[in-house]
Amino acid sequence: MNPIQAKDRPVYFSPRRLAHSNQFVSDYVKACDFYRDVFGFAEAYRQPDNLASFLSNGNTYHDFALIDLRSHYAPEGQKPGLNHLAFEVESEAALVESYKRAVADGIGPMRAADHDVAHSIYMRDPDGNAVEFYADVVEDWEEARKGIIIKQKPKWEPGVTNVPDARCLVNPHPRLKRLEGALVQGKRVTHIGLSVRDFDAMFEFYTTVAGLKTYFGDRSGPCVLLAGSASTGDIALIRQAQAPAGMHHVGVEVWSERDLDAAMRGAERLGATIVREVNHASRRAVSVADTDGLVMQLYVDRDWRPEVIASASEEDLPYLL
Ligand SMILES: [Fe+2]
Repeated sequence: MNPIQAKDRPVYFSPRRLAHSNQFVSDYVKACDFYRDVFGFAEAYRQPDNLASFLSNGNTYHDFALIDLRSHYAPEGQKPGLNHLAFEVESEAALVESYKRAVADGIGPMRAADHDVAHSIYMRDPDGNAVEFYADVVEDWEEARKGIIIKQKPKWEPGVTNVPDARCLVNPHPRLKRLEGALVQGKRVTHIGLSVRDFDAMFEFYTTVAGLKTYFGDRSGPCVLLAGSASTGDIALIRQAQAPAGMHHVGVEVWSERDLDAAMRGAERLGATIVREVNHASRRAVSVADTDGLVMQLYVDRDWRPEVIASASEEDLPYLL
């Protein structure tokens, strides 16, 4: 696909927040067990025909999708890493309205998908990462998405198949599960850090097509943190000339600093690798690599304000944002 070009800084999808990380893993069954035992995320449903497991503690219909490299979704030569990142939009009507404006302005290519509980639009950012914008279309996705699911996806043509629902169906106060017995009790996926190749184009895309606002930093600095309307940070763009473009880390909020202590003590015994701990006034974060080398930034906020974050060192920032 070609890079997406926005004209004159109009704003399009303007999501509420980042909602899930969809990632390729070398073995989805082993990864599912590992994410349960180490990070404390429960499998909500599984698609054995797609070799995919979907994990959620009740925040969204899945916070993680773990897709096997042997799945038909994995292109030839695919390595473990990001398949796509997904943003939650206020309503289906808002999603369709943004999509129509984006089509009219020549943004794309885009494709639409019906996931029963959500309607989605997919495209690529200028670095080539796949990005999804979706809206919940049912109130009770927990009921609809559990166990083993094998089914064809229906066709959805935005604004044509059905009259878009204008209601916001996101539960603002979901009941979140804690997985007792896991090393770390993960709460929810909140953000993704991206190692960026074309910083200016990526900043432009995420602030215009995605419509995020700057929460910390600026486009001339080493890192910038961008946020949706219901978030304090969804995408960290990390300027790293040496690293390949793509996922730097997935941000995983945990329940308490005791979980971070547990990660420091026990993650390596379970096959993970501690990458870095950042102990800062704004946030404490422990970055842990899974068995495929994908980095989960486990964190608890202390005083998460831009003026507090500003005292972090340039070396710590990629592991703090
Ligand atoms: Fe997705």
